[in-house]
Amino acid sequence: MKFFIDTANIEEIREAATLGILDGATTNPTLMSREKGKGSFSDILKEICSIVPGPVSAEVVALDAEGMVREGKELCKIADNIIIKVPCIREGVKAIGMFKKEGIDTNATLCFSLNQAILVAKAGATFVSPFVGRIDDVGSPGMEVVREIMAVYNNYSFATQIIVSSVRHAQHVYEAALIGADVCTIPFNVIEKLIRHPLTDVGVERFLEDWDKVQKK
Ligand code: E4P
Repeated sequence: MKFFIDTANIEEIREAATLGILDGATTNPTLMSREKGKGSFSDILKEICSIVPGPVSAEVVALDAEGMVREGKELCKIADNIIIKVPCIREGVKAIGMFKKEGIDTNATLCFSLNQAILVAKAGATFVSPFVGRIDDVGSPGMEVVREIMAVYNNYSFATQIIVSSVRHAQHVYEAALIGADVCTIPFNVIEKLIRHPLTDVGVERFLEDWDKVQKK
């Protein structure tokens, strides 16, 4: 499973990159707004693209297909590894097809249902992002939608890759890996939790204490 980091924060991206496990990054207007005052939108994206060895999703805000393509083409000028995040709406589906014709990779975002995922795959989306956390929030199992999308993409050999998104905790990553999702985009605080285990901490402490005894003999 590929690991993307779900943030626009440069310090977090740098720190995660030192682990050597990053395959890409996802941003959105909310994540970008949290970095306000730290540089222009394009400077922040350029820096992210220079750190991350893989696709970096940048989202369009236009609501019409032509506007999305116009914005997307501008975003692509920032760096070679920018890919365009387009919402799963009617105009978004059109735009995905238009981007595909231009050879521009897309990430169909704000996906909440299998039907949306089928449409964007047929339109030629490179990635689809089901938002598992937000689906859980309204009382439905988000990971079930991922399972359904995987089954149908398999049935019809759709090439669109699934990015498990809106990840809130380590259990989401665990389940995404078990069901074989292509990608999981993970906030920095969750990446940190993946490595921590209390028994490992206790074990390290005990080994160090015992090693100390050996040295003192
Ligand atoms: C994915 O690409 C989105 O940026 C993100 O996962 C949304 O997560 P949220 O529901 O926590 O805002």
